[in-house]
Amino acid sequence: MDNSEIRVADWDRDLEQIRLVRETVFIREQRVDPAIEWDDQEAAATHFLAFLEGEPVATGRLTQTGKIGRMAVLPRYRKQGLGSRLLEIICEHARATGLQHVFLHAQCHARHFYANAGFRAVGGEFEEAGIPHIKMEREL
Ligand SMILES: CC(C)(COP(=O)(O)OP(=O)(O)OC[C@H]1O[C@@H](n2cnc3c(N)ncnc32)[C@H](O)[C@@H]1OP(=O)(O)O)[C@@H](O)C(=O)NCCC(=O)NCCS
Repeated sequence: MDNSEIRVADWDRDLEQIRLVRETVFIREQRVDPAIEWDDQEAAATHFLAFLEGEPVATGRLTQTGKIGRMAVLPRYRKQGLGSRLLEIICEHARATGLQHVFLHAQCHARHFYANAGFRAVGGEFEEAGIPHIKMEREL
């Protein structure tokens, strides 16, 4: 999906577009509690948005500690490489800001998606928001 535009988002200005994607994917599709979905990291994190023909279709965020999270692609745009492109751009951004390694809490079903991008699992499975997760990390 090379015709997508991926850029750094502004939490205040782009909140509605980030909200549209994350509410669709995490709150409605995955039944994550909104009180957990929106946390105290949002304002300080760097957010990313992917657009197709001007419409937001994917998002993700990077915290100052190098934690990548809230990776979400709208269902009809999955399995076309968009999530991988978004993840790569987030990692490039992290490297450019001086981070030497990034990590994330992967939903277990998505661990191969992250492994394809060079992340390796560390430690065992645990639960977050009622969903099985595993910690994964990547050197930049
Ligand atoms: C996880 C998620 C972000 C991946 O996004 P995506 O755009 O589907 O990712 P990609 O298309 O880059 O890659 C996904 C898979 O499709 C495969 N793929 C990539 N391009 C493909 C194509 N053109 N045709 C078929 N398959 C393709 C990849 O190899 C990968 O395979 P695997 O993970 O099964 O081994 C997306 O599925 C999603 O939003 N899921 C719901 C929210 C979620 O669980 N987020 C993760 C929280 S940790």
